[in-house]
Amino acid sequence: MHHFHYISKELYCEDVPVAKIAQEVGTPFYLYSHATLMQHFHAFDGAFQGLDHLTCFSLKSNSNLAVVRLMALEGGGADIVSGGELYRALKAGVGPKRIVFSGVGKTDDDLNFALATGILMFNVESEQEMERLDHLAGRHGTRAPVSIRVNPDVDPKTHPYISTGLLENKFGIDMAQALDLYKRAAGLPNLEVIGLSCHIGSQLTDVSPFVASLERLLDLEERLREQGISIKYLDLGGGLGITYQNEWPPHPEDYAGPIKERLAGRGLILILEPGRVITGNAGILVTKVLYRKASRAKTFFVVDAAMNDLIRPSLYNSYHAIQPVVRVGRGRIKADIVGPICESGDFLAKDREVEIVEPGELLAVMSAGAYGFTMASNYNSRPRVAEVMVKEDRFYVVRERESFEDLIRGEHIPDFMAA
Ligand code: LLP
Repeated sequence: MHHFHYISKELYCEDVPVAKIAQEVGTPFYLYSHATLMQHFHAFDGAFQGLDHLTCFSLKSNSNLAVVRLMALEGGGADIVSGGELYRALKAGVGPKRIVFSGVGKTDDDLNFALATGILMFNVESEQEMERLDHLAGRHGTRAPVSIRVNPDVDPKTHPYISTGLLENKFGIDMAQALDLYKRAAGLPNLEVIGLSCHIGSQLTDVSPFVASLERLLDLEERLREQGISIKYLDLGGGLGITYQNEWPPHPEDYAGPIKERLAGRGLILILEPGRVITGNAGILVTKVLYRKASRAKTFFVVDAAMNDLIRPSLYNSYHAIQPVVRVGRGRIKADIVGPICESGDFLAKDREVEIVEPGELLAVMSAGAYGFTMASNYNSRPRVAEVMVKEDRFYVVRERESFEDLIRGEHIPDFMAA
């Protein structure tokens, strides 16, 4: 469910015509619906009602301050993977004790920042990281709260680039080594072992891999208990998929059901790290048609958004529905929707049946709220686009469009080349 809908032939976000926003802020821009974000957060978080849990919104899916702030206001925490994400989470008002930190390559700066902040839990992903954290925590005169992120070796059956829970992936610690590592962690003076975590992949459309990895984690938790290591938090990561085209991911209730069943009465606090399921269908990318051209092979609509704004089609061949903001009804045509970037891989859709549009008209690239703006770059010296949030009948620019000056901020021509 989302709040992007047509009234007559015109696309609205909640109560605001999308075309009106385009007129005021220009194109391209990302557009988020406040009501949809709220609804998705509560559908997810509410599904775990009755179980002691914390929903740590995954900032990598969408780290705009207004989005993260909304999650914080609704009672969510944050799942972060860098010092930059920690900075954003804090700026948005997420309480330190609601922040969990994953990632295979945490730097000393990252670890020091998080230690100084006093976050809830470090999800440690290697023995060396564990030793480093112990050392740095000692220097801070504190004990770092840790979980070990294990790799449960479960096939999430998703795109190989976003599958993370298989032995061949770089993430987590091999289950076979986990027990020994926990014993080591428990013996380190500046660590406090409090959790067990995993994250097996993203855009999962079936609950069974989640349940399989939970069962493996619970097995390990029992073995740890036998060794006198007791865990308070079990972090199951994120990964619940959404509908882009014709996928039927489980509803949060159906995802939560079997998890709640297996955790009932165990006294563990569940941590979840959802990203896409909250933000994916709460955002669109609005772009303007620049040109239509045809070769003997194909028709192309050239638009003003490109792979630097939304890289998912180029990188994963992902499908995003594309529809006119105002439906004129000229019929349909098979075409490629492409951006201005100098790469053949710069496309938003390929060989797609789309409604015929003319230059100057607007297109909405749907389901772009997750891994859209956060993966944007300045390739071809294109300023990153504006982000806008609608709440009911008003819209708010939550990130300004970058200027040309922003593009060169921090760059210097050395003196020896000075004019
Ligand atoms: N927790 C950890 C440790 C993660 O690595 C991820 C995503 C999440 C949580 C959130 O997963 P979600 O609930 O959003 O599935 N750029 C790709 C997705 C990469 C996901 C990386 N990790 C895409 O555009 O599909």
